[in-house]
Amino acid sequence: MANWQEHMRVGIDVVDDDHQELFAIVREFDMATQAAGGLVDSVLIGDILGRLQVYVHEHFDREEEAQRESRYEGYAENKRQHDELRHTLEIFLDKHKRGEWADLKQATEHMRSFLSVWLSEHIMKTDRKMRGRILPWVRNPK
Ligand SMILES: [Fe+2]
Repeated sequence: MANWQEHMRVGIDVVDDDHQELFAIVREFDMATQAAGGLVDSVLIGDILGRLQVYVHEHFDREEEAQRESRYEGYAENKRQHDELRHTLEIFLDKHKRGEWADLKQATEHMRSFLSVWLSEHIMKTDRKMRGRILPWVRNPK
């Protein structure tokens, strides 16, 4: 199960709030993929991943803007990783909309494990390096 945990705290409120919300959506996705009888609800999957995509874009934009304003040296690497996830979600959702999955259950399972691992690893290995490196006025936007 995907869960946000205290050790994932970056120390920038707006970022930590976003991360908790992202985990909440991924968790919703986890539950939808474990539907009774192993049946995958295609509409529900599309709905949840669509919402995740919107939130991912909003969050990444916020994070990247704060990093640019702070002239954060890890910006390029962080942006590269963000672009990868933006791309992965876009490809999955495009295929989903066109109904192109030969095996939706398998594709969804794959996405499920990918998302939990990606999010945890990105926060722990990349986002946490931002600790103390983001300017105070960016940390607490009005
Ligand atoms: Fe990030």
